[in-house]
Amino acid sequence: MATGIIGTGSFLPPTIIDNNELAKLVKTNDEWIREHTGIVERHIATDETTSYMGAQASLAAIENAGIDPKEIDLIVFATLSGERATPSMSCIVQDKIGATNATCFDINAACSGFVYAFQTADAYIKSGLAKTALIIGAETLSKMVDWKDRSTCILFADGAGAAIVRDKEHGVLSSITHSDGSKGMSLKCKERSTRNFLNKKQEDKHYIQMIGPDIFKFAVRKVPACIDLLLERANVSKDDVTYFVLHQANARIISSVSNKMGVPIEKFPMNVDHCGNTSSASIPILLNEMNRNGMLKSGDKIVICGFGGGLTWGAQLIEW
Ligand code: UT7
Repeated sequence: MATGIIGTGSFLPPTIIDNNELAKLVKTNDEWIREHTGIVERHIATDETTSYMGAQASLAAIENAGIDPKEIDLIVFATLSGERATPSMSCIVQDKIGATNATCFDINAACSGFVYAFQTADAYIKSGLAKTALIIGAETLSKMVDWKDRSTCILFADGAGAAIVRDKEHGVLSSITHSDGSKGMSLKCKERSTRNFLNKKQEDKHYIQMIGPDIFKFAVRKVPACIDLLLERANVSKDDVTYFVLHQANARIISSVSNKMGVPIEKFPMNVDHCGNTSSASIPILLNEMNRNGMLKSGDKIVICGFGGGLTWGAQLIEW
C-alpha cells in the first residue's frame, strides 16, 4: 500500500489577461513573452482570495474523489500569498468545506509547495497520524508583483489546485525535497512590514523581486539531478515514466530539462501557455487537467517536480 491521489480539483479566476494587455502596462510585447516564457495569457484574481480559490479547488477534488469532507483528517495548504497571516488558509478552507475532523496548517515552500505538502501528507499517512489528507497549492501572485516590473509581472499568475490523498494500492514510490537558504535572495518578497520603529525612514519593498536568469540556471541544474536520484531510489528507469509533471515556471526551463535528461518533450505536459506561472498551484492545476482529460491511467508512473523560492526543490514518483 502507498499514499496515492484519489481525486483532483482546480480553480482559475475568470479574469484573463493576455500579453497584449501587459504590453499596455510595461515595455514588452507578445512575441518576447511567448519566446522567453511560453505564456500567452494568464488568470488574474480580482475579488478572489487565496483561501477562496483553495476552497473551490478543494470542493472539486472532494467531488472527484467521491468522499465526505468529514473523512478528511489533515489539510496542508501550500502558499506564499495567503491573504492573512492568521487564521491560516487551511483553517479557512476547513471551515468553508466542512472538514470538521481535520488538523490544518499552511506551509511555504514557494513553487515547490505542492511537492512539500504531498511529502508531509505521505509522512502523516505512513505514520498513522492521518488517513485522508487534502493538499492544496493556491496563489494570488498578482497581488504581490510590481506591475511596473516587466521581469516579473509577465510571468506570475493566480490559481489553485488540490488533491485528496490516502492509503491505496498505488501511490508514492519515492519522494525527495531539498532546500538551499544561502541562495534564497535571488527570489524574494517581504510578506509584511518589518520596519524598525526607531528608524521610520527605512524603506520596505513588498513586491516580488527576482534575478530571473539565476533561478533559470538553478532550475535547469537541479531538476534533472533531483529526478535522477528520485528514480534511482525507486529503481525505475526514465523510460518507464509516462509523464514528467514539472512546475510550470517557464516553457523554456521545461524544454531545457527535457533536453538535458534526453527525454522527449511530449512526456512533459504543459499548461503555462494559458495559466502562466502560478507557483505552488501549477502542479496540481496541471495534474487536474490531465486527470479530467483522461491522460492518467491506473499503473502509470508519473514524476511531479517543483522548484523555486527558498530556494527549494523536490519531486515525487507516483504510481497512478
Ligand atoms: O517559479 C519559480 C521561480 N521562477 C522561475 O523559475 C523563473 C526563472 N526565470 C525565467 O523564467 C526567466 O529568467 C525570465 C522569463 C524571468 C526572463 O527571461 P530571460 O530570457 O532570462 O531574460 P533576461 O532577464 O536575461 O533578459 C534578457 C533581456 C534583457 O535586455 P538586455 O539587457 O539584453 O537588453 C531584459 O531587460 O530581455 C529584457 N527583458 C524584457 N524585454 C521585453 C526582460 N523582461 C522583458 C520583457 N519584455 N518582459
